[in-house]
Amino acid sequence: MAELRSIVTGGAGFIGSALVRHLVGKGEEVLTIDALTYAGNRTSLKAVEGKANHRFVQADIRDAAAMHAAIASFRPTRILHLAAESHVDRSITGAADFISTNVVGTFTLLEAARGYWQGLGAAEQQAFRFLHVSTDEVYGSLGAEGLFTEDTPYDPSSPYSASKAASDHLAKAWQRTYGLPVVVSNCSNNYGPYHFPEKLIPLTILNALQGRELPVYGAGQNVRDWLYVEDHARALDLIARQGRIGATYNVGGRNERRNVDVVRRICAELDAALPDLAGPRERLIRFVADRPGHDARYAIDATRLESELGWRAQEDFDSGIAKTVRWYLDNEWWWGPLRAAYDGARLGLVQAGAR
Ligand SMILES: NC(=O)c1ccc[n+]([C@@H]2O[C@H](COP(=O)([O-])OP(=O)(O)OC[C@H]3O[C@@H](n4cnc5c(N)ncnc54)[C@H](O)[C@@H]3O)[C@@H](O)[C@H]2O)c1
Repeated sequence: MAELRSIVTGGAGFIGSALVRHLVGKGEEVLTIDALTYAGNRTSLKAVEGKANHRFVQADIRDAAAMHAAIASFRPTRILHLAAESHVDRSITGAADFISTNVVGTFTLLEAARGYWQGLGAAEQQAFRFLHVSTDEVYGSLGAEGLFTEDTPYDPSSPYSASKAASDHLAKAWQRTYGLPVVVSNCSNNYGPYHFPEKLIPLTILNALQGRELPVYGAGQNVRDWLYVEDHARALDLIARQGRIGATYNVGGRNERRNVDVVRRICAELDAALPDLAGPRERLIRFVADRPGHDARYAIDATRLESELGWRAQEDFDSGIAKTVRWYLDNEWWWGPLRAAYDGARLGLVQAGAR
């Protein structure tokens, strides 16, 4: 097989860094492109720093000249596009960056990829892939029953999911219109090491560790389908290698949990690993005002990925959350500085009368 040369956009983020560690660990040539927003950290790439098969470029996907230059000089055989604004609460407080990065940025990158791809020879053109990485949130919300399939109509609820939906449509259109070999993946909620402390699981672990309140939105009944981030990284590598051009692959671990149960599980893990003399950490749970437009339930049917490409999640929620809690206990060097710089203020509430 010809050498794989992968560009990973957003490679200093949570999922991107897991993917970069995975690919570099396999000996592939990787170029990480990342603007290093508040969500991007070079420390998440410490494990690959200094490796001869990894390079890093700090650049913004909205910068057409920078994208053209990076692609032309690295000459990738595939682009795995993860760079995005990714936090729903932030998108409610201020949607502009989400439209700009997720929609315009994806457009800019697609155009740069198309220009490069059109200049390749026939065999290289055929082998090239552009993997557009997206979320199950584009499908909207489920009731108590049913699963999202690749044919579920798009029905996004938040500025974040609407901007991701728009970018998915652009990626698919670039395949149909220009023939760019695009594959799309839509994944459920991820968790694991190097997750920025504003998201539910790392926020809960760190607040619980420090004896602070554990905010749970609404009554905590919203259901998410949790996937360990390293399982997602393996899925992305596989989809980019073997996925059908023009197809979408849903990625999910078949691990549905109510938010309140996730928080309780983390409390129990921490209590077992490091008992709190003041009592079980569940006492710190506080139910707070719900997120506007909060989707009730997400759940993924990953049959296509499992049956066509043979992927299976290796972690279930219990094994994955135990690993994750252990990782945060052992890696304060990573989260300590982020936690000190990030004030944890509640975002994403719409003021009364504003809706
Ligand atoms: N986190 C999840 O549960 C989840 C689930 C499914 C899909 N996704 C998708 O996976 C991708 C990665 O998500 P994540 O959780 O790792 O996000 P993240 O916020 O942790 O990381 C995003 C990265 O993109 C970079 N970035 C942001 N704007 C940029 C720009 N304009 N130019 C270049 N780089 C920029 C950031 O610096 C950061 O390193 C996103 O596209 C997201 O929509 C996430």
